[in-house]
This record gives sequence, structure tokens and C-alpha cells, in this order.
Amino acid sequence: MTKKSEAVLNYHQRTKHTLQRYAKGPESIDWEDQPDHFRHFSGCEIVDLPLPGTELDVLFSALDTPEAIPVQPLNLVNIGLLLELAFGLSAWKQFGPSRWPLRCNPSSGNLHPTEVYLISAELEGLKAGVYHYVSHDHALEQRCRFSDNLPNASLYIGLSSIHWREAWKYGERAYRYCQHDLGHAIGALRYAAATLGWSIELLAEAADADVANLLGIDRIEEFKPSEQESPDLLCRINLGHGYTSATEINHRALDDLLAAVATGIWFGKADSLKAYHMYKWPIIDEVSAVAHKPRTVEPDYQAVASAVLPALTTQTASTLIRQRRSAQHFDGKMPAMAKAEFYRILSAVLPTAPAFKVWRWSPKIHLFIFVHRIEGLQPGIYALPRYHEALAQLKAGTLEEFSWQAMSAQLPLYRLHTGDCRQFAKTLSCHQPIASDSAFSLGMVAEYSNEINDAPWHYRRLFWETGLIGQVLYLEAEAAGYRGTGIGCYFDDSVHELLGFKDDQFQSLYHFTIGKPLEDNRIQTLPAYEHLFNKRA
Ligand SMILES: Cc1cc2nc3c(=O)[nH]c(=O)nc-3n(C[C@H](O)[C@H](O)[C@H](O)COP(=O)(O)O)c2cc1C
Repeated sequence: MTKKSEAVLNYHQRTKHTLQRYAKGPESIDWEDQPDHFRHFSGCEIVDLPLPGTELDVLFSALDTPEAIPVQPLNLVNIGLLLELAFGLSAWKQFGPSRWPLRCNPSSGNLHPTEVYLISAELEGLKAGVYHYVSHDHALEQRCRFSDNLPNASLYIGLSSIHWREAWKYGERAYRYCQHDLGHAIGALRYAAATLGWSIELLAEAADADVANLLGIDRIEEFKPSEQESPDLLCRINLGHGYTSATEINHRALDDLLAAVATGIWFGKADSLKAYHMYKWPIIDEVSAVAHKPRTVEPDYQAVASAVLPALTTQTASTLIRQRRSAQHFDGKMPAMAKAEFYRILSAVLPTAPAFKVWRWSPKIHLFIFVHRIEGLQPGIYALPRYHEALAQLKAGTLEEFSWQAMSAQLPLYRLHTGDCRQFAKTLSCHQPIASDSAFSLGMVAEYSNEINDAPWHYRRLFWETGLIGQVLYLEAEAAGYRGTGIGCYFDDSVHELLGFKDDQFQSLYHFTIGKPLEDNRIQTLPAYEHLFNKRA
């Protein structure tokens, strides 16, 4: 094992919540002094995107066969829709004097550490260059103007994280949440693109240094020292579904982009995120440094079979994307969820489902499900190994007394244990009732230690995969007339003990729950972009 892998394993161990103590975080939080949720760069030209809110008539069920969706042209209107449906505001919430925005992509604690950049060839209304997306204003800030145009229709999205924005509330565990949020962001982008008949491909080969250079976040003098952005991911946007990812092509594409950036003119300086930096969490910088991604050779793009059980909704994709929310309470007396709905949701998270076409790596995450209220299924613990060969490993790694009874010819779903597991689902999820009052909750279990030993940056990739699964679950829950919530707070090793993991071959990296939401009528919901309509009127 290398020192770097060891450092990553140590970070993970150190940031576990246990029944006796939570991972290290701030002792007190000044809610009046939150970091600014929206980064702005002063000194850039602003490009207002066309006003948001357009309804599209593509059905959510049509996203199961995305190749059949009409391909929208590349223009500012559709770039605006792509960014809005992936990362834009979806509503404002108000409770007494407090008012806070929600977005189409979720974020742990609603802190949104993920920043979004667009790299574009010249279009009508947009010069070739690098832009930062400001979701509050639904506008682009031009950070770099290229001196030469990029090849026709080139469009990329880059993602980075401001770790400090998340650590402000969650302390040392925040680095994990930033990675979850990135996985959700990939998922959000995939659904938004599919709605336009477009698709996304991860440039999985890119090094962190490539991403930092392309997004201009290695220009460290333009950021406050503790408010730097860490590079994460780069995706190519395709009009249609002509996937081209192959290591050679992507390395060349990266080199061409780097050349364009090197001869471009840069503008602007990041404004301060304002809040007072009361606590310091150096472990986050340390793990971030050792989990650094080099340029890699990755398997060529392989088309996966799109197999998914039928969607049971007639709503449009854009409606469901904009209405996605996290449930804060569930109706513990809900009628049981229909088995067909449950099975559809599970089929949508298998690596063969359409949303996972974006995933360039082999699947490493499996689900352990606490069934509470599903028609025709006894409450208990179930498992969904996400590919067949993992079954034997998971059987060998878990409690001997688990029965592993196959439940369905359509899905790799197994019952391990029968019995009411509401109480321990809640206790394991930091005592949160959302894990027990739902139809089901689950833990996403990673093939862990071998992956980290292979390369420390795989730590991030495992979390990204859980976030992508989480985003599929959020939207599938809405489509079925239910609601989901991501659960980042759980007692790691108590989950492992319950399942019988004896070492760190497997680790649970993210939890999730789906049920019938109870609305808190004291909290008002307000339109997402009224401020913009007023401003631009
Ligand atoms: C990675 C992640 C972890 C989360 N963990 C929890 C949790 O433990 N408990 C909870 O009530 N909500 C949790 N949430 C939900 C967030 O609080 C929610 O996404 C955020 O407040 C924004 O609200 P929205 O999802 O309705 O847009 C989590 C969300 C994410 C993405």
C-alpha cells in the first residue's frame, strides 16, 4: 500500500460518525454568517442567458430511450436550459424572516460547494471561451476569451468544489459531501442533457491539473487563499448520442483545449465568500492533495445495454426535474409502495440503465436496502448487487446467517433477513426518522480497500458513483409520486457491523431514503426566478 492510499484510508476512518461521537466539526455555527452560496467574479463580461422556466414536452419516460428524443440545436436558449435544468434554481423557501434558494441539483446542507463552468466554441451571442455559471442570476461570467475558435459545436462542462463552503458547517467530514454533490451534479447534467436530446461523456482521462488549468482555478492569485476551488471533472456535451470517448481522442481533445486556454485572455477575480473563517480543517487539504488525480488511460467508451423496467409516470422530465426536493419528514403511516414502483426504481440504478451511460468506469457500488413498506415484500434487509459477479464477494463478506433468497427474475434483488428494521435504520442514520418512516431506505456499499489501494483518487470516484445513484433515486422517487432524501449522516461502522463486514473490503459510503413526504405548511414555496423577471423587465 502506498503512503497516499494509507492517508486516504486514514481520512475516511477519522471522519466516521460513531454512536459515541460525531466526526470533528465546528462547535458552534453563526447562521447569520454563512459563506455566500453564489460565487461571483468581478471584472468579467456578463452574458445573460435567456429567461428560465420554459416547459419542454419531453416525457420523463422518454428518457429511457434517449436516442429517440429530438435533438435540440446548439444555441444560447438551449445552453440556458441545460444549465438551468441541471444547476439552476428550482424555488425559494421562506420561513418567517429566513429565505433560502433551492436548486435542481441537491447538496448536503444546501451549501452547494460545486461550481460550474462552461467551455464553448463561438456561437451566436457567445464568444469562444471559458465561462462561470451563476445560477442565481442565470448568467455566464466570461473568465477567458480564446484567440482562436474551437472546432465547431465544441461544448464542455467543468466542475470544481469549494471545500471550505461545505466544511463551514460539517468540518472534517465535508470532503466526503463535496464528492457526493459532484456525483449528483453529473446525474443532474445527464438528465438535463437527455431532455434536450443531448448526451454527456465524462472525460475520465483528465488530470486534476488539466481541469484546474482549463477552468482557470489554478490562477490562485485570483482567489482568496482559503476559498480556492479544487478541480474535479470535465464532461463533453454531445448533440445527440454519438459517443466518441476513447483515451487517444480524449487526450488530444484535452491538449487542444489546454492550448486554447494558454493563448486566451483571462478576466476577473473571485469575490470573497465573506463568512468569517473561524475554524480550520487542514485534514481536508491533506486528503485533497493525496487523492489528486493524474492523467489516466481509461477503457474506451462501451455502449451499455439500456435495460430498465417501464416508467409509471406521464409527467414531463422538466416538471419532475424542477419539482425535485428532499423530504424532511415522511408519513410513517403511508400505504405500502407498489412492488412495480419499487422494482422500477431499482432497475433504474443498475449499471445497464440509461442514466449510467455517462459512467466510464466499472461499477463498484451495491445497495443494501431496508424494506419497510413495500406491497408484497416482507420488511427486512435486501441486497441489490449491481453486477452479477459481485454476488459471491458480497455473500462471502457479509453475515453467514443471511439467506440471499432471490426475489425476482427481473432484478438481482435478494432477501437477506426478514424482520422489522425501522428502529435500527433510524438509529444507524444518526437517529433521523426519515430513514424509518419511509417505504425503504438503503446504504450504498462500495468495493472499497482494493480500489483505494489501486489509486487514491478512486476514493473520490466511489463517492461520485454514489452521488450519481442518488440523483437517479431522487428523480425516480418524484416520478413514482414519492420523494427521496440523501443521507450523509450515518454511523459508518455500526452499519458495517450490522451487515457483518469484518474489514474494509466493503464500506457504506452514502445512504438514501424514499417515502411519502409530509409537507411543513409553515414553510412557504416561492418561484425560482421572480427576482430575475423583475430585474430584466
Ligand atoms: C450528499 C447529501 C447528503 C445529505 N444528507 C442529509 C441528511 O443526512 N439528512 C437530511 O435530512 N438531508 C440530507 N440531505 C438533503 C439536503 O439537506 C438537501 O439536498 C438540501 O437541503 C437541498 O434541498 P433540496 O434537496 O430540497 O434541493 C443530503 C443531501 C445530499 C446531496
